[in-house]
Amino acid sequence: MQLGFGCARLGSASSGARHRDATRLVRDAVEQGVTVFDTADAYGAGASERLLGNALRGVRSQVTIATKGGYVFRPRTRAEQRIRRAVRAVAARRPMSGTPVPSGSAYGPQDFSPANLRRRLHDSLRRLRTDHVDLYQLHGPHELLPELLEELSDLVADGKVLRLGVGAESVSDAARWADVPGLDALQLPFGVLDPEAADDVFPAARARSVEIWARGVLGGGLLAAFDRDDPTMAGEPKRHQIAALRDLAAESGLDPYQLAVGFVRAHRDVSTVLLGIGSRGHLERNLELMRQPALDEDLVARIRRLGAQAVVAPIDASGERSS
Ligand SMILES: NC(=O)c1ccc[n+]([C@@H]2O[C@H](COP(=O)([O-])OP(=O)(O)OC[C@H]3O[C@@H](n4cnc5c(N)ncnc54)[C@H](OP(=O)(O)O)[C@@H]3O)[C@@H](O)[C@H]2O)c1
Repeated sequence: MQLGFGCARLGSASSGARHRDATRLVRDAVEQGVTVFDTADAYGAGASERLLGNALRGVRSQVTIATKGGYVFRPRTRAEQRIRRAVRAVAARRPMSGTPVPSGSAYGPQDFSPANLRRRLHDSLRRLRTDHVDLYQLHGPHELLPELLEELSDLVADGKVLRLGVGAESVSDAARWADVPGLDALQLPFGVLDPEAADDVFPAARARSVEIWARGVLGGGLLAAFDRDDPTMAGEPKRHQIAALRDLAAESGLDPYQLAVGFVRAHRDVSTVLLGIGSRGHLERNLELMRQPALDEDLVARIRRLGAQAVVAPIDASGERSS
């Protein structure tokens, strides 16, 4: 099972990292043995692919690049991206100054027509400075498009894409795609906070030899937000589940991140553990977490029960929680 470097925030203004530091982080990751990078054309409206392509110059043949297409967006120029980063940096230093923070997501509507995807792939290859991507994924299709992979098979025949996949937004989308012929890899949410895919997707994927790439392993940042008492956690439905996970971690003599990565590593169907990495500290820590032994079956089973247990029963008229 391999670690995949999640590049969703790489080069984006919101990551807070300087271009130079983010480039160095990717190079450090390669030096430390990371060989899988997952990006998308829409991440930072092209900025993530551009930074990755630049950082991987000279080592392209040693790594696997996975990217995605399907969202309609206007690519940002380097100059625009520089301005966004500078404005963000000023706003972070002087949060009360009223400096307008660039806002708005690059994500727009989707277009999964083969003609559009061919154009998008062409642009991705240019930004990534490569003649092929190892995995090309449909980015978050909610609709099942059973013929599309077959229609894109010429990209594989031409060597521009080695394999085709889907980056599913939800477990239910992933479950429907798992059965589609021609699918090589499926990226989906799976982890201590979202264990459902083990039952709902893995068996079908296994039957078709579809590779599983797990994301959301650290709850898409929720574990870290809980740790720093982020105000957004007050309305977060999974906060009880995270609190229960922390109790279990304390009881087992591990920390919640060890449980989170160890849980995914205990599932042999998963080929790639994608972790969003924004700093050298997290890079080193995540490499260390990938080296730890997988969790034993009992702990895995207890983690899988946490979601159900963490649903707080409503308080009845007497003020007691109903059982
Ligand atoms: N539809 C799709 O296909 C789709 C959707 C979402 C994501 N993805 C892919 O999956 C990747 C991972 O995204 P995710 O949502 O699964 O994020 P995640 O890995 O669950 O969480 C990332 C967050 O956790 C923090 N973090 C990373 N390592 C940490 C550590 N050791 N200790 C504490 N905090 C740590 C990161 O902070 P720092 O930034 O400070 O390091 C970041 O805020 C993305 O980059 C992208 O490649 C794909």
